[in-house]
Amino acid sequence: MASLTRRVFLGTAAAAGLVRPAMATLPATLHAAPGTAQLAPEGYDPTPIWGYDAGVPGPVIRVAQGGRVTRQLANDLPQPTSVHWHGIRIDNAMDGVPGMTQAAVEPGGRFDYDFVAPDAGTYWYHPHNRTWEQMARGLYGALIVEEPEAPAVDADHVLLIDDWRLDENAVIHESFGQMHDWAHAGRLGNWVTVNGHPDWQREVGQGARLRLRLVNTANARIFPLVLQGMTAHVIALDGQPVAEPFPVEELTLAPAQRADLIADITAEEGETAWVLERDRDGMLSVAGFPVTGVARTEGLPQPAALAPNPVPALGPLDTAKRAELLMEGGAMGGMQGAMMGGRQMGMREMAAQGKVWAFNGMADMPETPLIQADRGETVVIAMVNDTAWPHAMHLHGHHFRRLGPDGPGPLRDTLLMERGESAEIAFVADNPGKWLLHCHMLEHSAGGMMTWIEVT
Ligand code: C2O
Ligand code: CU
Repeated sequence: MASLTRRVFLGTAAAAGLVRPAMATLPATLHAAPGTAQLAPEGYDPTPIWGYDAGVPGPVIRVAQGGRVTRQLANDLPQPTSVHWHGIRIDNAMDGVPGMTQAAVEPGGRFDYDFVAPDAGTYWYHPHNRTWEQMARGLYGALIVEEPEAPAVDADHVLLIDDWRLDENAVIHESFGQMHDWAHAGRLGNWVTVNGHPDWQREVGQGARLRLRLVNTANARIFPLVLQGMTAHVIALDGQPVAEPFPVEELTLAPAQRADLIADITAEEGETAWVLERDRDGMLSVAGFPVTGVARTEGLPQPAALAPNPVPALGPLDTAKRAELLMEGGAMGGMQGAMMGGRQMGMREMAAQGKVWAFNGMADMPETPLIQADRGETVVIAMVNDTAWPHAMHLHGHHFRRLGPDGPGPLRDTLLMERGESAEIAFVADNPGKWLLHCHMLEHSAGGMMTWIEVT
C-alpha cells in the first residue's frame, strides 16, 4: 500500500514545541465539511479530510456535568450524515441514528442537537451514517463532561488516537466498502495520529501529574498501548469512574473505548515519557511527553476515586430479563447463510449485498428488538462470539457491567470480545427509546453486526 511508514520507536525525543490550536469560543454550529489536515509529516501535502468544523479532530466540546449541549449540525458534506454522542446516556431523540431516532441530514441540511449530559467523563461524537466512510475521513471529536470536583492535575490532555489508510501521497485511500475489510478485521490503516497529528508531543515537568483521556477513534484497529516514563492509574473507563483506581502499564483500547489515566511523570529531565503501541515489529510511538524542568520533587499520593455518576445500580440478576446474542459470520467463520430481507440467503448472495455477519441468524436490522424492557428493568444479554475475529460490542444509551466470577465488572459502553469468547453484560434499562447494540468495528456493523433494544 503506502510507502509512508510510521517511525519506529527509538527512545529519542523528536523536537517538540508543537502548539495545539487555541480553543476559541465554540460556535453554536457544528459544520460537517471537507477540509485538510497535516496528518503526515512536513514535506507531505496536507491530507484532504472530512471533519467537524472542517478539521481533525473536531472541536473539543466541554460542558459541566448536568449541563446542556446545544449544537446545530450543518451538513456541508456531499453525503447525508448525523451526529451520535457516543457514551452519553442521552434523550433518545438526540442519539443521532438515521432511520431510528431521526432522518439523516441531507447535504445542505441542518439538525438541532440539544441534550443534557448526565455523567461526567470522557465521551466523543461521530456520524452514524456511512460511519465506515465518514469516520475514516476524519469526522469525530471529543465531548468532555467535567466533574464538579475534578482531580488536581498539572495538565489535562485529550488524546484521540486514530488509524488512517493513506496512500504514498498521504491521501486517504478510497478503498471504502471493500468486502475483504468487511469480512476480516475491518478497515485497518497504515498511519496513526493523535489529535490529527503524526507526532503529537507536549512538554512536561519531571514529577508532573497529568490526566490523559485516551480515546480510540479508529474504524477497526485495536490499540495495545504501553506506558513508559510514567506511573499511571486508570480512574475511568468509557467515561465512567472505576470504583478503585488501579495501576496500569499496558492497556488495550478497542475501537470507541476510552480510558482516563492519572499519569505521574517519572522520566527525568532530557528524557521523554511515552504512550507507545505494541506492534509485531516492536514499539511505535503514539504520544510523547518530553521532560523539561521539574514540576515537583516529592511523589504525590495515589489518585483518589472519582465520584460515581448517577447510573442506577443493578437489580437482582436471577430475575433479570434475559436475551442471548449469537455473533456469527466473517471469514473463517463457517457461517452458511442468514436471514436477510425476510428470507434465508447463502453467504455468497449475502456478500453481494454487503452483508457477511449475523446476529442470531439475522444479517440486516431486525424489525423486532433483541429485547423489549420495561423502564427500570435489569437486563442481562449473554453474547457468544462464534467468529474468528475480535469484536467491540457497543450499546447505545446505557452503560453495562460485564458479569464475571468476581461479580459485575466496571461500567462500560463498549466491550472487546476476543474470538470464541462469551460474555454476559447487565444493565438497568432506564432510558426509554430505541437503542442500537452493534460492533464498533464499523465494517462489521455495516456488514450485519447490528441489532437494537427497546425500553418502554
Ligand atoms: Cu460510537 Cu453506534 O456508535
Ligand atoms: Cu466486529
